[in-house]
Amino acid sequence: MVTITTKEFQQMASYIKRMYGIHLKMEKTALLIGRLHQLLMQKGFATFSEYYDYVVSDHTGAAALELIDKVSTNHTFFMRETEHFHFFRDEVVPYMEGSVSDKDLRIWCAGCSTGQESYTLAMILNDYFLTKPSDWDTKLLATDISSRVLQQAVSGEYSAEQIVALPKHWQSRYFKRLSTGKYQVDAKIKAQVIYRKFNLMEPRFPFRKKFHAIFCRNVMIYFDKSTRDALVDKLWERTEPNGYLFISQSESIDREKTPYKYVMPGVYRKDSH
Ligand SMILES: C[S@@+](CC[C@H](N)C(=O)[O-])C[C@H]1O[C@@H](n2cnc3c(N)ncnc32)[C@H](O)[C@@H]1O
Repeated sequence: MVTITTKEFQQMASYIKRMYGIHLKMEKTALLIGRLHQLLMQKGFATFSEYYDYVVSDHTGAAALELIDKVSTNHTFFMRETEHFHFFRDEVVPYMEGSVSDKDLRIWCAGCSTGQESYTLAMILNDYFLTKPSDWDTKLLATDISSRVLQQAVSGEYSAEQIVALPKHWQSRYFKRLSTGKYQVDAKIKAQVIYRKFNLMEPRFPFRKKFHAIFCRNVMIYFDKSTRDALVDKLWERTEPNGYLFISQSESIDREKTPYKYVMPGVYRKDSH
């Protein structure tokens, strides 16, 4: 088993924070070793210092991506914090239908992990607009820093156990059973979600237009307060007036600092008044 000195831990942790915002306290030493030791052995590194030097000197970025694939926590599941999806369906989508005059809905799922959240939003939009004129653009953007989870999201394949929390009519309408025994999101729903790699620590967000709703749930829990505050400011800039920000119910944003108005646990709005 590879061990890590305090200095090596601090070096790795400060690199990870600078690059990806993820804040690893000293208590996470065992977690860092657990997630990386196999990679170090495979690559033949005897110490974390050697591994660190390799990561920072690899200008292709491949080593850094391999690192974030190991270090990010990607836990997610269908219907997580269901109240948010109900609020989105019952309040946000009708609001957008009534106010987005060019019919181009802009929804961003930031930190989408393996796709459960983004596909759920796509299914809600599909249900809602099924009986409406078909000129609504209901495609949504879903991003994550980890290529590994994005690959899974793009495949749209889930086990029976993973989809069991979904309403039965969604299971039958939007999934097909594969010969492997897995279930795959149907092509129409898949085509509605555009998956891209994107690091939320980028100093500038490259999106041309602002979003009517941003989901950034269970992402900032891994960041420290100043990183969270800075990200919320950037999300605010990218939110349309009257648009919504969803974070998780267990997170909150500093109401003294942000102009977003609190709506309900984990939901905020860019009030234009
Ligand atoms: C715990 S998952 C949350 C998934 C989903 N939003 C949910 O609530 O179930 C957090 C995701 O945030 C991503 N993430 C962490 N830091 C990031 C960063 N700097 N830029 C983009 N994504 C990041 C991770 O890769 C991970 O997939």
